Amino acid sequence: MKKTAFSQFLIFFSFMSSTAFSLERTIDQKVDALLKQMTLEEKVGQLTQYTGDLAATGPITINPNKQSEIRNGLVGSMLNVLGTRYTRQYQELAMQSRLKIPLLFGLDVIHGYKTTFPIPLAEAASWDLDAMELSARISAAEAAASGIHWTFAPMVDIARDPRWGRVMEGAGEDTYLGSKIAFSRVRGFQGEKLGGIDSVMACAKHFAAYGAAIGGRDYNSVDMSERTLWETYLPPFKAAVDAGAATFMNSFNDLNGIPATGNSYLQRDILKGKWGFKGFVVSDWGSIGEMVSHGYAKDGKEAALAAIAAGSDMDMESNAYRNNLAQLVKEKKVPVKLVDDAVKRILRKKFELGLFDDPYRFSDPEREQKALNDPAHALAAREIAAKSIVLLKNENNLLPLSKDIKTIAFIGPMVKPLRDNHGFWAVELKDMDPGYIVSQWQGLQNKVGGATLLYAKGCDFEGDNKDGFAEAVAAAGRADAVILSIGERWNMSGEAKSRSSIHLPGVQEDLVKAIQATGKPLVVLINAGRPLIFNWTADNVPAILYTWWLGSQAGNAIADVLFGDYNPSGKLPMTFPREEGQLPIYYDHFNTGRPAPDETAVNYVSAYIDLKNSPKFPFGYGLSYTTFQYSDLKLSGTEMKRDGNIEVSLNVTNTGKVAGEEVVQLYLRDKAGSVVRPVMQLKDFRKIKLAAGETKPVKFIIDNSKLSFYNKNLEYGSEEGGFVLMIGSSSADIRLKAEFELK
Ligand code: NOJ
Repeated sequence: MKKTAFSQFLIFFSFMSSTAFSLERTIDQKVDALLKQMTLEEKVGQLTQYTGDLAATGPITINPNKQSEIRNGLVGSMLNVLGTRYTRQYQELAMQSRLKIPLLFGLDVIHGYKTTFPIPLAEAASWDLDAMELSARISAAEAAASGIHWTFAPMVDIARDPRWGRVMEGAGEDTYLGSKIAFSRVRGFQGEKLGGIDSVMACAKHFAAYGAAIGGRDYNSVDMSERTLWETYLPPFKAAVDAGAATFMNSFNDLNGIPATGNSYLQRDILKGKWGFKGFVVSDWGSIGEMVSHGYAKDGKEAALAAIAAGSDMDMESNAYRNNLAQLVKEKKVPVKLVDDAVKRILRKKFELGLFDDPYRFSDPEREQKALNDPAHALAAREIAAKSIVLLKNENNLLPLSKDIKTIAFIGPMVKPLRDNHGFWAVELKDMDPGYIVSQWQGLQNKVGGATLLYAKGCDFEGDNKDGFAEAVAAAGRADAVILSIGERWNMSGEAKSRSSIHLPGVQEDLVKAIQATGKPLVVLINAGRPLIFNWTADNVPAILYTWWLGSQAGNAIADVLFGDYNPSGKLPMTFPREEGQLPIYYDHFNTGRPAPDETAVNYVSAYIDLKNSPKFPFGYGLSYTTFQYSDLKLSGTEMKRDGNIEVSLNVTNTGKVAGEEVVQLYLRDKAGSVVRPVMQLKDFRKIKLAAGETKPVKFIIDNSKLSFYNKNLEYGSEEGGFVLMIGSSSADIRLKAEFELK
């Protein structure tokens, strides 16, 4: 009986694998057959991407011939064309071309399409991988129903300098957390396999090291050691490849003197070579042409040569391929096989998406209507928005507020706006029903409609006008409790939104002082796309929630947390500095030869004479309305061999009065190595939910992969010796410790 089942399994398995094989071959064969029919100009066309004119996400070049070029088969893809009607119009042009190769439609679906989810940095604060996968899944479903085949997300750049405006778009500073999130987001966008009608291609970006722009100034150069590149910046990209990311985007920066777009080491040796990436690489907007400004190419022709040689497959908007590539092939400066390889990579994806079977399969207006109005999407957005909120301070358990409070003053520039809750990169906004965005004011009304709610704006996000202070103070004076919502306007973090000062902008902190002076119970909400500096508020106000930019359901989610219908569980994915002078700042730094023994020591130790080393709020930090106790740490052994492992177990107890979630974080320190090792590194975590009084066991496995790093010869592996294991509630709140040895 057993044998029969086994042989049936074998027959089934070999059938499955041969089907998969033949399917693979069929696509390859089809690609080859099509390639044979293509002229050189048509091939270059497949490598050319233009932006539509509905929205510009970069400096547009005017080209009145786009439409005729599409008709002539000279364009492979469009970005910023959206909606079933509009995408269909463009696809119909492509269907008039000789070979009828469908266009790919790409768009920056960064944190939602119609339903806007929290900005990616906020979602990262949830440490909830399933929730992030779901948010990407829903974004994909909406975009795919609206004619889009491809999102330029996730951004998996590690970012350690919050002056860089694009920190809002990534998962923060940590490589381990960032890699896990990269994997989940790619899976979310693409589903199990490309070709699903509710999936889009993901695009891991920006390859590579864009997040380390010097001084946090966008588009700036990056200068980085090989070890840091491999150990800190590349792993999330590798995770994206492992998750099956269909595409990669290169980046604007130069890396150690070579623009990423012309960087063969990055794109050919690492990505397509060592990692075996089978998808295609798109340039970041005009990054091919920009190699002229970098001073790496003397003109567009040299730039095109450098880019194709380095493995950049598709030229977004720079026209360098369109204007030069065919000529370069004719002059024998570019072997046609380089062009063929790039074309094949792109055609393959078009086949996998099913576009050759039906070029309009993503353009069904009925499906679009349904997907864009699915109430389940709003529910999911509300849940993940609540999970993204971080409780920074809660003196005397001021929060949650009672729903019986009679009069609440809701003050601040963020109370009534809609758009600002979306944050940067809200793509489908133009046709959006404004009622679909729940403002913070609306959210409060929905929650405590029976209370008397007072409103005053107080001041703007920016500027020095304090005319509104008196009205705000008066409203606070009449209230039993005050909620003050301040922060950054939607376009103060994002692409090209670097700030040299990341203090709360304008006179907002003065407004906090004025309201605090009324003596009323005060809760401050800080809405922003990056870690901000707000030392006075942090030191003086009793309750602070970091609410980032939470998307369409911001108002409801914030109200859920304010009144305890959701117990906050977010943990910071980035270190919050005390002052810009500490930047870049991150928890997994080296110890140095002269570590400061405490916060007061300055003499001949690694410290500032005018500032503490410690951050204002550390990586992994976030409070709850309940408390958690960690106990009973046990290791299955204190010695480990490379092919073995150590099982780590502990108990976590909810010691408070309400249910809550805790992110149990596991950090390791390698005590000595052939190269210096960080003081601690996140190596695992679990997010668990506990009823009041409940105790749950938590288990981790330490194996060789968790002990490995790039040694002095840049080889990846572990080294024998001692390790410190730290388990805690944040990187600065270690509750349990143990040591073990790799033998
Ligand atoms: C430039 C940005 O850097 C990139 O992330 C984005 O996908 C493209 N513009 C397209 O909008």
